[in-house]
Amino acid sequence: MRKNAPESVAPQRTSGNVLEVTGLRRSFGGVPAVDDVSFTLAAGGSLGIVGESGSGKTTTARIVVGLEQADEGRVVVQGRVRTGRARGRAERIARAREVQMVFQDPYLSLDPRTGVQAVLRETLRLHFPDADHASRIAELLDQVGLGTRAADALPRQLSGGQRQRVAIARALAVEPAVMVLDEAVAALDVSVQAQVLNLLADIRERTGIGYLFITHDLGVVRCITDDVIVMRHGRIVEAGPTAEVLADPRHPYTRLLLESVPRPGWDPDRIAAARRAL
Ligand SMILES: Nc1ncnc2c1ncn2[C@@H]1O[C@H](COP(=O)(O)OP(=O)(O)OP(=O)(O)O)[C@@H](O)[C@H]1O
Ligand SMILES: [Mg+2]
Repeated sequence: MRKNAPESVAPQRTSGNVLEVTGLRRSFGGVPAVDDVSFTLAAGGSLGIVGESGSGKTTTARIVVGLEQADEGRVVVQGRVRTGRARGRAERIARAREVQMVFQDPYLSLDPRTGVQAVLRETLRLHFPDADHASRIAELLDQVGLGTRAADALPRQLSGGQRQRVAIARALAVEPAVMVLDEAVAALDVSVQAQVLNLLADIRERTGIGYLFITHDLGVVRCITDDVIVMRHGRIVEAGPTAEVLADPRHPYTRLLLESVPRPGWDPDRIAAARRAL
């Protein structure tokens, strides 16, 4: 390892991380929503962000994807620093090639008048103008478990789980290095949730796409992430391997989150009292 290499000369790619976030800050109206947040995502890894409503998870995600600008800090994707807004269409497309986002409600991100195949064709045309789209569309539909009958359906003709599969297929179409999933299974019934989580686990294994997985549900974190960070009031209060953090939470807030998961013997009054005491 060379020491004292000037920063401008040192290689920017470090230790196989696809995503490195350092010292992010973002305030709204003087109130910090994200307050000194740093983390890394290994290539092909899965990192969860948990925390209760308003803790800054979505704001962090939007900054990583580039939908929101940070006041301070930096985001490095595949060794390249992303600073400020994308300059022009070419840079926007180049950034989208690297990081794709899947939202909670695909209704809001899918055009109601565009059928499933057409959604995928649009994305493929934008990113791979010269490729054979028909065969790739068939492959993507197969990959997310959507049959040929769904291929020409409009969003409203699909179930919630199917719509989320379309949103996942659209993200996959781009062959990104990172997928940011913000409460991507939160709106689904528990059984459908499990199917989509299994699908996402398969996809990660097959493609090596890294996941930044945002959820308020610790059960989801347990099932889909390797590592987890716990946010509260915009700050990271605890971070580590998911199994360790969940088995032996160090921060009282993490313990509280774990206790808030409804299960037999759950006592909402005691949790409310513990929350006030924090
Ligand atoms: N565009 C905005 N304008 C003003 N305030 C905002 C904006 N976006 C987020 N905030 C505020 O920033 C804080 C963090 O919000 P954020 O959406 O990141 O939380 P979250 O952890 O994703 O919550 P949830 O679990 O409810 O989705 C909140 O107090 C929110 O009201
Ligand atoms: Mg959110």
